[in-house]
Amino acid sequence: MFYPGIHTKPEQNNGHLILFFMMLVFAASTAVGFVSAAQASDTSHDIQSGQLLFQKNCAACHGSEGGGGVGVPLNMSDFLSTTSDEYLKKTIQLGRPGRIMPAFSTLSETQVNNLVHYIRSWKPKIKTPVYSQKK
Ligand code: HEC
Repeated sequence: MFYPGIHTKPEQNNGHLILFFMMLVFAASTAVGFVSAAQASDTSHDIQSGQLLFQKNCAACHGSEGGGGVGVPLNMSDFLSTTSDEYLKKTIQLGRPGRIMPAFSTLSETQVNNLVHYIRSWKPKIKTPVYSQKK
């Protein structure tokens, strides 16, 4: 990694090495700062992009606020308090074969998560149930 050239003196190389490490430390610390800043604003961003995805893909059937239509209502407390995130995600990704609910297999993992965040935002006080996943 470190090749002393014919014309360079060892102390010059050390200088470069120290500079290199300082830059590494600087890069690492800015990267960490960036990640935590991104995490802090995560939730509102997720909900916003989830809302856009919902208006585009789901509102026609489930209503613009999840009140239902062709599709079942999704914004009811009873539904959200008994439904795990995993169930919502799987329903979106796989649909309901043989029923009207389509599979959204082209949505990315992040997009599906954002949709779930948005659906949850209708009833922010409801605690999301977590079920153990047995395979
Ligand atoms: C073409 C109409 C249609 C579209 C578009 C649609 N759905 Fe559905 N969805 C339905 C119907 C109908 C059901 C009821 C499925 C059944 O009969 O089991 C359903 C069921 C669901 C359920 C399960 C509800 C329950 O009680 O178990 C969820 C969650 C859901 N949809 C979310 C979504 C999301 C999120 C989108 C957008 C990415 C979406 N749906 C797009 C028609 C639709």
